[in-house]
Amino acid sequence: MADSGMERTLGEQMLYYEARAGEYDEWWLRRGRYDHGAADNEAWFAEQAEARAALISAIPDGGQVADLACGTGIWTVLLAAHADRVTAIDGSVAMLAKAEDRLTQSGLIDRVNFLQADLFAWRPSVQFDAIFLGFFLSHVPEDRLDSIFRSVHDALKPGGKVLFIDSKREPSGSSPDQPLPDESEAIMTRRLNDGRSFRIVKIFRAPERMAAAMERSGLAPDVRETARYFQYGIGTKSTG
Ligand SMILES: C[S@@+](CC[C@H](N)C(=O)[O-])C[C@H]1O[C@@H](n2cnc3c(N)ncnc32)[C@H](O)[C@@H]1O
Repeated sequence: MADSGMERTLGEQMLYYEARAGEYDEWWLRRGRYDHGAADNEAWFAEQAEARAALISAIPDGGQVADLACGTGIWTVLLAAHADRVTAIDGSVAMLAKAEDRLTQSGLIDRVNFLQADLFAWRPSVQFDAIFLGFFLSHVPEDRLDSIFRSVHDALKPGGKVLFIDSKREPSGSSPDQPLPDESEAIMTRRLNDGRSFRIVKIFRAPERMAAAMERSGLAPDVRETARYFQYGIGTKSTG
Protein backbone atom coordinates (compact mmCIF):
# COMPACT_ATOMS: atom_id res chain seq x y z
CA MET A 1 0.00 0.00 0.00
CA ALA A 2 1.36 3.48 -0.89
CA ASP A 3 2.45 5.44 2.15
CA SER A 4 -0.40 7.99 1.93
CA GLY A 5 -2.86 5.05 1.85
CA MET A 6 -1.22 3.59 4.96
CA GLU A 7 -1.29 7.01 6.69
CA ARG A 8 -5.05 7.12 6.01
CA THR A 9 -5.52 3.61 7.43
CA LEU A 10 -3.53 4.48 10.57
CA GLY A 11 -5.73 7.56 10.99
CA GLU A 12 -8.86 5.40 10.60
CA GLN A 13 -7.40 2.92 13.11
CA MET A 14 -7.09 5.74 15.65
CA LEU A 15 -10.70 6.85 14.99
CA TYR A 16 -11.81 3.24 15.40
CA TYR A 17 -10.25 2.88 18.85
CA GLU A 18 -11.57 6.27 19.95
CA ALA A 19 -15.09 5.11 18.97
CA ARG A 20 -14.62 1.62 20.46
CA ALA A 21 -13.44 2.68 23.94
CA GLY A 22 -16.86 2.19 25.59
CA GLU A 23 -17.23 -1.37 24.28
CA TYR A 24 -13.56 -2.45 24.13
CA ASP A 25 -13.61 -4.62 27.27
CA GLU A 26 -16.41 -6.83 25.85
CA TRP A 27 -13.76 -8.53 23.69
CA TRP A 28 -11.43 -9.25 26.61
CA LEU A 29 -14.31 -10.44 28.80
CA ARG A 30 -15.98 -12.48 26.00
CA ARG A 31 -19.28 -10.62 26.29
CA GLY A 32 -21.90 -9.80 23.64
CA ARG A 33 -20.61 -10.50 20.10
CA TYR A 34 -17.40 -11.97 21.54
CA ASP A 35 -19.08 -14.73 23.56
CA HIS A 36 -18.19 -18.01 21.82
CA GLY A 37 -19.79 -20.37 24.35
CA ALA A 38 -18.55 -22.04 27.49
CA ALA A 39 -15.80 -24.28 26.07
CA ASP A 40 -14.07 -21.65 23.91
CA ASN A 41 -14.47 -18.99 26.60
CA GLU A 42 -12.91 -21.27 29.18
CA ALA A 43 -9.89 -21.81 26.92
CA TRP A 44 -9.66 -18.05 26.30
CA PHE A 45 -9.57 -17.21 30.02
CA ALA A 46 -7.16 -20.05 30.84
CA GLU A 47 -4.78 -18.84 28.12
CA GLN A 48 -5.12 -15.24 29.32
CA ALA A 49 -4.06 -16.44 32.78
CA GLU A 50 -1.11 -18.38 31.34
CA ALA A 51 0.24 -15.38 29.39
CA ARG A 52 -0.48 -12.95 32.23
CA ALA A 53 1.44 -15.06 34.76
CA ALA A 54 4.49 -15.27 32.47
CA LEU A 55 4.50 -11.54 31.68
CA ILE A 56 3.76 -10.20 35.14
CA SER A 57 6.46 -12.36 36.73
CA ALA A 58 9.01 -10.64 34.44
CA ILE A 59 8.16 -7.13 35.73
CA PRO A 60 10.81 -5.84 38.08
CA ASP A 61 9.29 -4.92 41.45
CA GLY A 62 9.38 -1.22 42.19
CA GLY A 63 10.66 0.01 38.83
CA GLN A 64 9.62 2.56 36.23
CA VAL A 65 7.33 1.01 33.62
CA ALA A 66 5.75 2.34 30.42
CA ASP A 67 2.46 0.90 29.12
CA LEU A 68 2.34 1.77 25.42
CA ALA A 69 -1.15 1.82 23.85
CA CYS A 70 -2.66 1.26 27.31
CA GLY A 71 -6.27 1.26 26.05
CA THR A 72 -8.82 0.95 28.88
CA GLY A 73 -6.06 0.10 31.38
CA ILE A 74 -6.63 -3.67 31.63
CA TRP A 75 -2.86 -4.20 31.88
CA THR A 76 -2.01 -0.82 33.43
CA VAL A 77 -3.65 -1.95 36.68
CA LEU A 78 -1.49 -5.08 36.79
CA LEU A 79 1.66 -3.12 35.99
CA ALA A 80 0.86 -0.49 38.63
CA ALA A 81 0.49 -3.22 41.25
CA HIS A 82 4.19 -4.08 40.75
CA ALA A 83 5.88 -0.89 39.62
CA ASP A 84 6.74 2.30 41.46
CA ARG A 85 5.55 4.39 38.54
CA VAL A 86 3.73 3.65 35.31
CA THR A 87 3.62 5.98 32.32
CA ALA A 88 0.51 4.95 30.37
CA ILE A 89 0.34 6.25 26.82
CA ASP A 90 -2.42 6.04 24.23
CA GLY A 91 -3.49 8.05 21.21
CA SER A 92 -7.18 7.95 22.16
CA VAL A 93 -8.65 10.39 24.67
CA ALA A 94 -11.66 8.10 25.23
CA MET A 95 -9.38 5.12 25.97
CA LEU A 96 -7.31 7.21 28.40
CA ALA A 97 -10.48 8.32 30.22
CA LYS A 98 -11.53 4.67 30.64
CA ALA A 99 -8.05 3.75 31.90
CA GLU A 100 -8.09 6.63 34.38
CA ASP A 101 -11.46 5.42 35.76
CA ARG A 102 -10.11 1.89 36.13
CA LEU A 103 -6.98 3.03 37.95
CA THR A 104 -9.03 5.29 40.24
CA GLN A 105 -11.30 2.38 41.16
CA SER A 106 -8.29 0.15 41.84
CA GLY A 107 -6.75 2.72 44.20
CA LEU A 108 -3.51 2.75 42.16
CA ILE A 109 -4.05 6.01 40.29
CA ASP A 110 -1.30 7.79 42.25
CA ARG A 111 1.31 5.55 40.62
CA VAL A 112 0.27 6.32 37.04
CA ASN A 113 0.90 9.24 34.65
CA PHE A 114 -1.34 9.28 31.60
CA LEU A 115 -0.16 10.76 28.34
CA GLN A 116 -1.85 11.18 24.97
CA ALA A 117 0.63 10.60 22.14
CA ASP A 118 0.96 9.04 18.70
CA LEU A 119 3.28 6.09 19.28
CA PHE A 120 4.56 6.27 15.72
CA ALA A 121 6.10 9.63 16.62
CA TRP A 122 6.89 8.87 20.29
CA ARG A 123 10.49 9.69 21.34
CA PRO A 124 10.75 9.33 25.13
CA SER A 125 13.09 11.56 27.11
CA VAL A 126 13.51 9.10 30.02
CA GLN A 127 14.40 5.40 30.28
CA PHE A 128 12.28 2.65 31.82
CA ASP A 129 12.96 -0.66 33.58
CA ALA A 130 10.21 -2.30 31.52
CA ILE A 131 7.99 -1.40 28.59
CA PHE A 132 4.70 -3.20 28.00
CA LEU A 133 2.82 -3.41 24.69
CA GLY A 134 -0.58 -5.13 24.83
CA PHE A 135 -2.23 -5.95 21.49
CA PHE A 136 -0.55 -3.05 19.70
CA LEU A 137 2.26 -4.60 17.64
CA SER A 138 -0.23 -6.45 15.38
CA HIS A 139 -1.55 -2.96 14.47
CA VAL A 140 1.91 -1.80 13.38
CA PRO A 141 2.58 -1.92 9.61
CA GLU A 142 5.47 -4.11 8.50
CA ASP A 143 7.76 -1.23 7.54
CA ARG A 144 7.33 0.45 10.96
CA LEU A 145 7.90 -2.52 13.25
CA ASP A 146 11.69 -2.12 13.44
CA SER A 147 11.36 1.57 14.18
CA ILE A 148 8.95 0.82 17.09
CA PHE A 149 11.33 -1.79 18.52
CA ARG A 150 14.28 0.62 18.15
CA SER A 151 12.37 3.33 20.05
CA VAL A 152 11.53 0.74 22.72
CA HIS A 153 15.18 -0.37 22.91
CA ASP A 154 16.37 3.24 23.30
CA ALA A 155 13.75 3.89 25.97
CA LEU A 156 14.90 0.95 28.14
CA LYS A 157 17.60 1.12 30.79
CA PRO A 158 20.47 -1.39 30.34
CA GLY A 159 19.06 -4.81 31.30
CA GLY A 160 15.50 -3.49 30.87
CA LYS A 161 12.72 -5.62 29.42
CA VAL A 162 10.09 -5.21 26.76
CA LEU A 163 7.00 -7.34 27.33
CA PHE A 164 4.26 -7.87 24.76
CA ILE A 165 1.10 -9.86 24.22
CA ASP A 166 -0.88 -10.11 20.99
CA SER A 167 -3.45 -12.19 19.14
CA LYS A 168 -2.81 -15.43 17.34
CA ARG A 169 -4.68 -15.98 14.08
CA GLU A 170 -7.77 -17.74 15.48
CA PRO A 171 -11.32 -16.97 14.26
CA SER A 172 -12.89 -17.42 17.71
CA GLY A 173 -10.51 -14.78 19.09
CA SER A 174 -12.81 -12.06 17.77
CA SER A 175 -16.50 -11.78 16.82
CA PRO A 176 -18.10 -13.69 13.91
CA ASP A 177 -18.98 -10.45 12.07
CA GLN A 178 -15.27 -9.56 11.77
CA PRO A 179 -13.81 -12.32 9.57
CA LEU A 180 -10.03 -12.57 9.55
CA PRO A 181 -8.28 -11.19 6.47
CA ASP A 182 -6.35 -13.41 4.09
CA GLU A 183 -2.92 -14.42 5.45
CA SER A 184 -1.29 -12.13 2.87
CA GLU A 185 -3.44 -9.11 3.89
CA ALA A 186 -2.32 -6.49 6.40
CA ILE A 187 -5.67 -4.67 6.55
CA MET A 188 -8.98 -5.83 7.99
CA THR A 189 -12.44 -4.38 8.59
CA ARG A 190 -13.61 -3.95 12.17
CA ARG A 191 -17.19 -3.27 13.24
CA LEU A 192 -18.67 -1.59 16.28
CA ASN A 193 -21.87 -2.69 18.05
CA ASP A 194 -23.76 0.09 16.23
CA GLY A 195 -22.69 -1.27 12.81
CA ARG A 196 -20.09 1.38 11.92
CA SER A 197 -17.07 -0.12 10.20
CA PHE A 198 -13.41 0.91 10.02
CA ARG A 199 -10.34 -0.37 8.17
CA ILE A 200 -7.36 -1.06 10.39
CA VAL A 201 -3.94 -2.74 10.24
CA LYS A 202 -3.89 -6.29 11.66
CA ILE A 203 -0.87 -8.51 11.07
CA PHE A 204 -0.49 -11.93 12.69
CA ARG A 205 3.26 -12.51 12.78
CA ALA A 206 4.88 -15.87 13.40
CA PRO A 207 6.92 -16.06 16.63
CA GLU A 208 10.15 -16.34 14.60
CA ARG A 209 9.35 -13.06 12.81
CA MET A 210 8.74 -11.29 16.11
CA ALA A 211 11.93 -12.72 17.57
CA ALA A 212 13.94 -11.63 14.50
CA ALA A 213 12.55 -8.08 14.71
CA MET A 214 13.48 -7.87 18.40
CA GLU A 215 16.97 -9.16 17.71
CA ARG A 216 17.50 -6.58 14.95
CA SER A 217 16.86 -3.89 17.57
CA GLY A 218 19.22 -5.34 20.16
CA LEU A 219 16.60 -7.05 22.32
CA ALA A 220 17.33 -10.70 23.23
CA PRO A 221 13.98 -12.36 22.44
CA ASP A 222 11.92 -15.04 24.14
CA VAL A 223 8.64 -15.39 22.22
CA ARG A 224 5.99 -17.95 23.17
CA GLU A 225 2.42 -18.83 22.30
CA THR A 226 -0.53 -20.28 24.14
CA ALA A 227 -2.40 -23.14 22.45
CA ARG A 228 -4.96 -21.10 20.46
CA TYR A 229 -5.26 -17.45 21.31
CA PHE A 230 -2.19 -15.51 22.36
CA GLN A 231 1.39 -14.80 21.44
CA TYR A 232 3.53 -13.18 24.12
CA GLY A 233 7.16 -12.31 24.48
CA ILE A 234 9.91 -10.81 26.54
CA GLY A 235 12.92 -9.01 25.09
CA THR A 236 15.92 -8.04 27.18
CA LYS A 237 18.28 -5.16 26.47
CA SER A 238 21.89 -6.02 27.17
CA THR A 239 23.51 -4.62 30.30
CA GLY A 240 26.62 -3.52 28.37
C1 LIG B 1 -6.05 -3.40 20.84
S1 LIG B 1 -5.99 -1.94 21.80
C2 LIG B 1 -4.94 -2.48 23.16
C3 LIG B 1 -5.25 -1.82 24.47
C4 LIG B 1 -4.52 -2.40 25.69
N1 LIG B 1 -3.09 -2.36 25.53
C5 LIG B 1 -4.98 -3.82 25.97
O1 LIG B 1 -4.19 -4.74 25.81
O2 LIG B 1 -6.14 -3.98 26.36
C6 LIG B 1 -4.92 -0.92 20.86
C7 LIG B 1 -4.71 0.45 21.47
O3 LIG B 1 -3.75 1.15 20.65
C8 LIG B 1 -4.12 2.52 20.63
N2 LIG B 1 -3.50 3.11 19.44
C9 LIG B 1 -3.73 2.78 18.14
N3 LIG B 1 -2.93 3.52 17.34
C10 LIG B 1 -2.18 4.32 18.14
C11 LIG B 1 -1.17 5.29 17.92
N4 LIG B 1 -0.76 5.59 16.67
N5 LIG B 1 -0.62 5.92 18.97
C12 LIG B 1 -1.04 5.63 20.24
N6 LIG B 1 -1.98 4.71 20.52
C13 LIG B 1 -2.55 4.06 19.48
C14 LIG B 1 -5.62 2.50 20.58
O4 LIG B 1 -6.20 3.71 20.97
C15 LIG B 1 -5.94 1.33 21.52
O5 LIG B 1 -6.14 1.79 22.83
